[in-house]
Amino acid sequence: MIGKGGREHALCWKLKQSSRATTVFCAPGNAGTALDVQNVAIEPGDQRGLLQFARREGIGLTVVGPEEPLAKGIVDVFQREGLRIFGPRRDAAELEGSKVFAKDLMRQAGIPTADYRVFRSGPDAEHYILSREVSLVVRSRGRSTIRHTLHCRTASETMEAIERILDPREMLSPGVQVEIEERGHRRVFDTVADARDFVLGRPLGLVLKADGLAAGKGVYVCNNLRQALDAVNQIMVRRIFGQAGDRLIIEERLDGYETSIQALTDGRTIVALESSQDYKRAFDHDEGPNTGGMGAFSPTPRVTPALMEEVEREILVPIVHALKRARRPFRGVIYAGLMLTNQGPKVLEFNVRFGDPETQVVLMRLKSDLLDALEAVVDGRLDSISLEWDARPSVTVVIASEGYPGHYERDHPIENLEAVAGLSDVKVFHAGTTLRSGPGSGREARIVSDGGRVLNVTALGSTLAEAREHAYEAARAVRFPGGFYRRDIAERDGSGIR
Ligand code: AMP
Ligand code: GLY
Repeated sequence: MIGKGGREHALCWKLKQSSRATTVFCAPGNAGTALDVQNVAIEPGDQRGLLQFARREGIGLTVVGPEEPLAKGIVDVFQREGLRIFGPRRDAAELEGSKVFAKDLMRQAGIPTADYRVFRSGPDAEHYILSREVSLVVRSRGRSTIRHTLHCRTASETMEAIERILDPREMLSPGVQVEIEERGHRRVFDTVADARDFVLGRPLGLVLKADGLAAGKGVYVCNNLRQALDAVNQIMVRRIFGQAGDRLIIEERLDGYETSIQALTDGRTIVALESSQDYKRAFDHDEGPNTGGMGAFSPTPRVTPALMEEVEREILVPIVHALKRARRPFRGVIYAGLMLTNQGPKVLEFNVRFGDPETQVVLMRLKSDLLDALEAVVDGRLDSISLEWDARPSVTVVIASEGYPGHYERDHPIENLEAVAGLSDVKVFHAGTTLRSGPGSGREARIVSDGGRVLNVTALGSTLAEAREHAYEAARAVRFPGGFYRRDIAERDGSGIR
């Protein structure tokens, strides 16, 4: 297993349950994988080190957790050496590695997704944003010699109109004012700066995305022109994502309920996993910044059998076929991030790996042998597999370091995990933990925090409410003073959240 998060711990834990798995190694793993399987100190980016290890140990199957090694072609390298590895090759991993590639492929295949445009330069993107519809009426007021009433369709037209009335260099044209009318509401401004500021605050629903991998941070959901121009500046001018920002996508903002579907595929057969729902915002009631995921539950009542069928027919089957036609056959797990809109499900993004923390709740409910399923994908015989699921719902609560997703401290001790391990139908997957040996020899190694998301406290229950109770009971029992978690995971069946 390549990786070191909660997803990888859950995969290790499940793979080890297979009667055919003699030893499971995790590279580099965390304190949790050290307890359940065997850690190897090789980083996911060390292709050569991983290859040597797999050869030396005669590893029967390598499973890739995170997207970076896939985007760098680890599957191609292993396959060239005749080693079995679960995950898509580099060219198929572009589905996540390049949002432009993914959008173009979706458009070609007729897969429902938000309308979009691709930009290669900052000025072009700015021009496009400023030419979006705003519909304002600009009038001169006060001591103006000319009486203007200018109907402006776009932000740039509005800016021009303002500067025809007010002198931009003086900042103040004595006695002259500009009035801007928006849907019957009128506001009066004395300076170009104030009037421009008002225009930039006009609402708009656009989402800006850096093309390449940006550790989940390259997406800006913008509510007004200022935010959209700011995003262009970050991505294309300041280039905070480097080359990942060579190209920029501007797409329409979709409204609805967000959910994701994961499916195994060997390029011919598709086997969907049970549905799950994650919580992206840091704080209760979906407040605060976006994170990698603060909790999840499975199944989600929104994903009815009929919806699942629609997603397979309209999205999963066409994308797998489109990849095959593009001569980039996909083997691995496809994760479709969806917005359930009034016009049906639309794709926000594809990932080419298991979701984190969705995998934790899904695997908690998997009864079948995961090793069998993953090998069937690698060997192209997924048609021989059907998966059995525990009907009981599962919930995972992410305990994160205080400050996450911003700055946080590491090395805070985590205690009482043994007691939690004794609870039935509860499993604590480790995400950002490590073992630290105490000062002085002979002291036992302690488990300390080593990342933003630290633990995924996961539980089953006969109802969603019971699973939630179990998970929170266990989370409360963990002693980790440097941490916090959301209190509303799986509340109200998850149906109240967006
Ligand atoms: P992505 O990495 O493309 O899934 O984007 C990250 C997050 O941004 C998603 O989980 C959504 O919450 C949001 N998002 C992305 N694209 C859109 C869109 N077209 N409309 C609304 N929200 C979006
Ligand atoms: N939880 C979102 C993801 O894995 O991308």
